[in-house]
Amino acid sequence: MNIADRLLNAEREHSTFVYVIAAIAALNGLLFGFDIGVISGALLYIDQTFTLSPFLEGVVTSSVLVGAMIGAATGGKLADRFGRRRLTLAGAAVFFVGSFGMALSPTIEWLVFWRVVEGTAVGVASIVGPLLISETAPSDIRGALGFLQQLMITIGILLAYVVNYAFAPEFLGITGWRWMLWFGAVPATVLAIGTYFLPESPRWLIEHDRIEEAKSVLSRIRDTDDVDDEIDNVREVSEIEEKGGLSDLLEPWVRPALVIGVGLAVIQQVSGINTVIYYAPTILNNIGFNEIASIVGTVGVGVVNVLLTVVAILLVDRVGRRPLLLVGTAGMTVMLGILGLGFVLPGLSGVVGYVTLASMIGYVAFYAISLGPVFWLLISEIYPLRIRGTAEGVASVFNWGANFLVALTFLPLINRLGEGLSFWLLGGFCLLAFVFIYARVPETMGRSLEEIEADLRESAIVGSDSEERPESVTND
Ligand code: BGC
Repeated sequence: MNIADRLLNAEREHSTFVYVIAAIAALNGLLFGFDIGVISGALLYIDQTFTLSPFLEGVVTSSVLVGAMIGAATGGKLADRFGRRRLTLAGAAVFFVGSFGMALSPTIEWLVFWRVVEGTAVGVASIVGPLLISETAPSDIRGALGFLQQLMITIGILLAYVVNYAFAPEFLGITGWRWMLWFGAVPATVLAIGTYFLPESPRWLIEHDRIEEAKSVLSRIRDTDDVDDEIDNVREVSEIEEKGGLSDLLEPWVRPALVIGVGLAVIQQVSGINTVIYYAPTILNNIGFNEIASIVGTVGVGVVNVLLTVVAILLVDRVGRRPLLLVGTAGMTVMLGILGLGFVLPGLSGVVGYVTLASMIGYVAFYAISLGPVFWLLISEIYPLRIRGTAEGVASVFNWGANFLVALTFLPLINRLGEGLSFWLLGGFCLLAFVFIYARVPETMGRSLEEIEADLRESAIVGSDSEERPESVTND
């Protein structure tokens, strides 16, 4: 059964409480997406207040990512220490305060400072949302509910674009960018209120020997008092899991999975998606759209991102992960090729605006059915249980790190190479991504996590340096 059908049918089998928890936890994704998206429109006006060089624009954009790396690197440990619920509440509080801090920034230095602070909450949100979902969801709909986070990220980005539109160029006599950045306090409040009513993750309670509380939470989630077996299972598994640490990631048989996870993390970013998410209005503005038209065009990009993520949810368990990734990266390569061409061919200057917008939207559409959701799904599937948490954390930090580098270098790159060559460079990365996926990424559709782990062990035995195509070990 595919993810969408599973979600629809599962309602009968599982308590609605499971969905309530997942929906509230996924609001972490909304914050993540909002923060990523909001800077795009805000930049146009921040520039008018502080006069930014391309490098400074990159710093303002990417400072949030420095914080996010810190948040992602420490989020797992903090969640273990203080609990998922308390950490989410703390993250929402930081987000709330950070939104006011950014909006009131008197200088560019303060703005960058508050972006870093806000970023720590974004990094934490990227870890704790999926964690809370995966620990409370019944196994048969865990993947499906996990997709909610990516859907919420894209909805957060769209919300940010709409907010950018609503507050531009100014509102009540105050420049729009201050309102845009302040607005993050609204979803942060919703997340805090929702989380206040959430129970702690039963898994965390068990690990902290709070068995009676765990029982009562689990009975509510599972809609039955018969939860002793599950509690015993979680205890056993957590005992095994404790053995996994950073050094275990380098064991020879785990290395291929590590390469795939980190490789996809970097690929997702160097494919250039966030150059469009962050800079779409700036790019459209540069080629002749006025500020408002640029923001409206960007809202179109946001809508396509949400809709195609829904399409990915419908397809991922029908056609598989590999075909989506391959079609997606091939499509992205072509779209970036056309985008670059629009800038390079002088004869096209009259239609260049529309070609740019259309190829930008096409590019985001191909991303949204592939690298966007499938990367996060795969890193929750390909690692052995024992090291899954650590390995996902490592992939996340690489993802934020690559995001940071791209955000910081993209505008100076455009200044140096021009738009055309810069987009072709990103297209080159997408082509390499296609080759990497073709050669390395296994199909995990229809395989249980245990089977995937067994495949990994088997391929290590078949030959640690064999360059075998992954299907050969993953065929059913
Ligand atoms: C990525 C983000 C990106 C977003 C766009 C996410 O999966 O991690 O960096 O902005 O997709 O939809």
